[in-house]
Amino acid sequence: MKEYFSYDDVLIKPLYSEVRSRSTVDVSTSLNSWIKLGIPIIASNMDTVCEYNMAKSMAEFGGLGVVHRNLPHATRIHNVRRLTELGLLSAVAVGVNEYDDAPFNRYLDEGVDVFVLDIAHGDSLHALKAVEGLRSIAERYGNETCIVGGNVATPDGVERMANAGAHSVKVGIGPGAACLTRINTGVGVPQLSCIMECAERADFLGLSVIADGGVKTPGDVAKAIAAGADAVMLGSMLAGTDEAPGVVRTVRGQRVKSYRGMASGGAGSKYVEGAEGYVPYKGAAFEVVSAIINGLRSAISYCGSYSISEMQSKVEFIKVSPLSLIENDAHGTIL
Ligand code: XMP
Repeated sequence: MKEYFSYDDVLIKPLYSEVRSRSTVDVSTSLNSWIKLGIPIIASNMDTVCEYNMAKSMAEFGGLGVVHRNLPHATRIHNVRRLTELGLLSAVAVGVNEYDDAPFNRYLDEGVDVFVLDIAHGDSLHALKAVEGLRSIAERYGNETCIVGGNVATPDGVERMANAGAHSVKVGIGPGAACLTRINTGVGVPQLSCIMECAERADFLGLSVIADGGVKTPGDVAKAIAAGADAVMLGSMLAGTDEAPGVVRTVRGQRVKSYRGMASGGAGSKYVEGAEGYVPYKGAAFEVVSAIINGLRSAISYCGSYSISEMQSKVEFIKVSPLSLIENDAHGTIL
């Protein structure tokens, strides 16, 4: 049996560097030949993470926010219009079950930039057919719309997505903070190895990879990118910010916001594979994103590199003992 690793199983080995300042490091990326991002960060298509406010802020920072599919089409379409009017990138999630009667032309009329097919198991016939359909609808319409398929967790799954016409693929089955898929089904692939395997095939086939789920720290973002992801999708890290839907509450003396899996009972799923709870309130999303981008710039410079692609070509991961988690975090210091 092959061994697979999660983010916490590894560290990035520091390499000789001539980079004098992190400000000289380029963190831009792209999802396909025309969707360019200033930062490789995407807000998750979840109903406790991304509606208009999050999508607007993320696009302003140079990233992207995917408006979730639990909103009515009219609201999603209105969000696309507002973003387009501001000259910002817009992205919406479409569920595989609503595919047959979704008013795609109205999204395309408003200039939607990215469609994200939202289904837990993307490597399935109905998901692949939906990706194929989305691509041909957008092409017939004549719009430059990027089609993101997913989620998959194997190189062959990436290849089937590429053959179906996806420009980009979301990678990750069960690593997320509110995911119960692995616990309830025993299915999944540890996320770091999953990204490495999938990115290798995606590179070969010419599509991009979005590492989706399981990111807890800025360091995890750096590991995901170093492992080959073109961008990283964040749920729980952004759910506690002002821009996420929902209000700030006080629970057991702590300020929190709600966070729940899209396959949770609360989000309307019959087959519960998502948890429901809270995450700490964090203030403006800009603070979270800045910390991530600062960490990523430093990581790239620690790898003696000036760009994401240079780091990906040079990086060496080292497997660490589980005890290193104690050494990694602040310890012996009263915080
Ligand atoms: P993080 O770790 O960033 O993960 O909070 C966000 C990602 O988790 C996925 N997701 C789910 N996975 N059951 C799952 O197994 C769910 O109910 C669920 N809801 C979201 C999704 O890929 C998201 O971007």
